[in-house]
Amino acid sequence: MQDGSAREITYLRLSATSLCNLRCRYCMPAEGAPERPCAEICTIGELSEIARQAAALGIRKVRITGGEPLVRRGIVTLCRDIAALEGVEELCLTTNGTALPQFAAPLRAAGVTRLNVSLDTLRPDRFAHITRTGRIEQVFEGLQAAAAAGFTGTKLNVVLLKGFNEDEIPAFVDLARRYPLEVRFIELMPIGEGVHAGFLPASAVLEACPELEAAGASGSARRYRVPGGMGAVGLIEPLSHRFCHRCDRIRVTADGKLKPCLHSGQEIPLRGLSGGALRDAIRMGIASKPPRHFLPEEGHSGAGRTMNQIGG
Ligand code: 5AD
Ligand code: SF4
Repeated sequence: MQDGSAREITYLRLSATSLCNLRCRYCMPAEGAPERPCAEICTIGELSEIARQAAALGIRKVRITGGEPLVRRGIVTLCRDIAALEGVEELCLTTNGTALPQFAAPLRAAGVTRLNVSLDTLRPDRFAHITRTGRIEQVFEGLQAAAAAGFTGTKLNVVLLKGFNEDEIPAFVDLARRYPLEVRFIELMPIGEGVHAGFLPASAVLEACPELEAAGASGSARRYRVPGGMGAVGLIEPLSHRFCHRCDRIRVTADGKLKPCLHSGQEIPLRGLSGGALRDAIRMGIASKPPRHFLPEEGHSGAGRTMNQIGG
């Protein structure tokens, strides 16, 4: 359905958990996300019912997010349920990749169409530093497992961090040259811990790699061809190139709050609703989606939650 600004809303980002097995410095506090009582978190059945009602309102693409969705018990069941919904054409999942050796094949069998893997550095020492707890080999093994399970069109999400990974931009672009991957550089958003990390504008990618050829926009990304390469590069620039006018998405948090806009504090509680009442609540949320965010003017997000509590 259309929102109040005549944008067609077709994309639901559904968070399965705010917990994560990593502790990326710009995302999570060192001690991790506070564990919430199970009773406050949607059950797998509630999450799939939300997706079902959203699909009835015209949602065609669902992305499962987190935190880290693969730490959520029942995640494969959730994927199987959502993939089977009438109207859902694409089911994607964003993951840090560390659990893909175990999960890639079951997710593929459950009907997940595509994966986004978050990876901010290619260097083991830097990975250990930025994630505080992670081993980069697990992500590399995860990427291999995804390919072996039959996933194609996998995207790598790289958050640009000044003073951390700017010198690795050419190495990431080179990956997109050598493999059929889309490498997406994402501008750091001033949410939660992200307020304290170093912002690097996406224009740094074009400065480091002037050979990239513009290839139009898709969703929130501006896309570029890598000459002579198999993959592509995407730039996601919520700050320097606001893409609100072509926003097609809504978000639902793991505790069942519909967020019409990532950067607005507006939340519509969905828990306890089902059937037509649930559908009406989602319809109301879509209708009241704000026309744009005010990050450049305000310098911080009005999200009122941290990134792991929303789902990126
Ligand atoms: N700005 C941009 N991206 C972020 N992520 C987490 N915090 C931020 C932030 N402040 C990203 C992760 C991952 C996805 C879940 O969200 O790197 O790709
Ligand atoms: Fe976990 Fe992703 Fe946050 Fe890192 S950015 S702590 S992998 S949710």
